[in-house]
Amino acid sequence: MEQKRIIAVVGATGAQGGGLVRRILSDSNSDFVARVLTRNTSSDRAKNLARLGARVVNADADDPASLEKAFEGAYGAYCVTFFWEHFSPEKELAHAAAMAKAAKRAGVQHVIWSTLEDTRKWVPLNDSRMPTLMGKYKVPHFDAKGEANQLFADLRVPTTFLLTSFYWDNLINFGMGPRKNPDGTWAFTLPMGDKKLPGIAAEDIGGCAYGIFKKGPEFIGKTVGIAGEHLTGAQMAAELSKALGREIRYNDVPPEVYRSSGFPGAEDLGNMFQFKRDFEPYFCGARDIKFSRSLNPELQTFEEWLGRNRDRIPLEGG
Ligand SMILES: NC(=O)c1ccc[n+]([C@@H]2O[C@H](COP(=O)([O-])OP(=O)(O)OC[C@H]3O[C@@H](n4cnc5c(N)ncnc54)[C@H](OP(=O)(O)O)[C@@H]3O)[C@@H](O)[C@H]2O)c1
Repeated sequence: MEQKRIIAVVGATGAQGGGLVRRILSDSNSDFVARVLTRNTSSDRAKNLARLGARVVNADADDPASLEKAFEGAYGAYCVTFFWEHFSPEKELAHAAAMAKAAKRAGVQHVIWSTLEDTRKWVPLNDSRMPTLMGKYKVPHFDAKGEANQLFADLRVPTTFLLTSFYWDNLINFGMGPRKNPDGTWAFTLPMGDKKLPGIAAEDIGGCAYGIFKKGPEFIGKTVGIAGEHLTGAQMAAELSKALGREIRYNDVPPEVYRSSGFPGAEDLGNMFQFKRDFEPYFCGARDIKFSRSLNPELQTFEEWLGRNRDRIPLEGG
């Protein structure tokens, strides 16, 4: 029997990497096996994946040697960074550099780098439409990922650059769900005007990544964008109303109001939504839904995702 090819998955206990590991594990005919990289092999999440059949190894992006070891013998690697753990674009760049070097050293044949746009190519730092943040970024958690593309390219790592989309799971985990107004009505806030936001079920990112690994060399050196659906704030509010059984209005606020919300990352996210709003044709065009479904036939629509997850959405103020 031919040996199965190993895919080393960074962030395997998290949303993106976890989706990929579960897709590999659930495909009994897969040519691949998943190697879970984690800082803590005895966490519940790591142990669950081990129980499902994945090999779990220690690796910390702060420790490049541990990444090199964890990539050894792997055919593929899924690389993602963790902005919301530290809020540092410089740290994301350092982690991406360590992953690119480790992949090069180990001779990994196919890397998927989970990236986003360097928005400074569209909105230079001297553009006053949105404030410059942390001295040299417009959307720090996007810009560093986009800047890091070059690290993989410079080392000639065989890479697919995967442009991801807004997780609908943010409505559960990121405090972006509907909120009750003082007058008892319900509102869903997004600073997107009447423009469409490409969104995706976080677990479907892993499903699309699996499709890319299966197709192999066809996507090496290419940039690939994915989304489950492109929806306006009003359309999302209408779907939320149906799923949650109460009227939820779309609360369209200007990006400057969103930026001043005061929660950690509000300015970064305010700039991010403004970028998506102001460059909608590009941003949606780079994330084709039919193409995403060709990679991942189980790709969910927002309605389907809500059907599975409505009970997990906290109703703030309710
Ligand atoms: N939220 C969104 O809408 C959205 C959309 C597109 C892209 N993103 C990007 O997605 C990225 C996060 O991915 P995610 O949502 O899949 O993550 P997540 O669910 O928050 O999980 C974080 C993962 O990172 C791992 N991790 C953290 N620090 C690490 C380190 N130093 N070394 C090795 N592993 C480490 C954790 O593993 P252990 O704890 O097991 O070590 C865990 O698996 C962020 O950079 C974010 O900007 C988010």
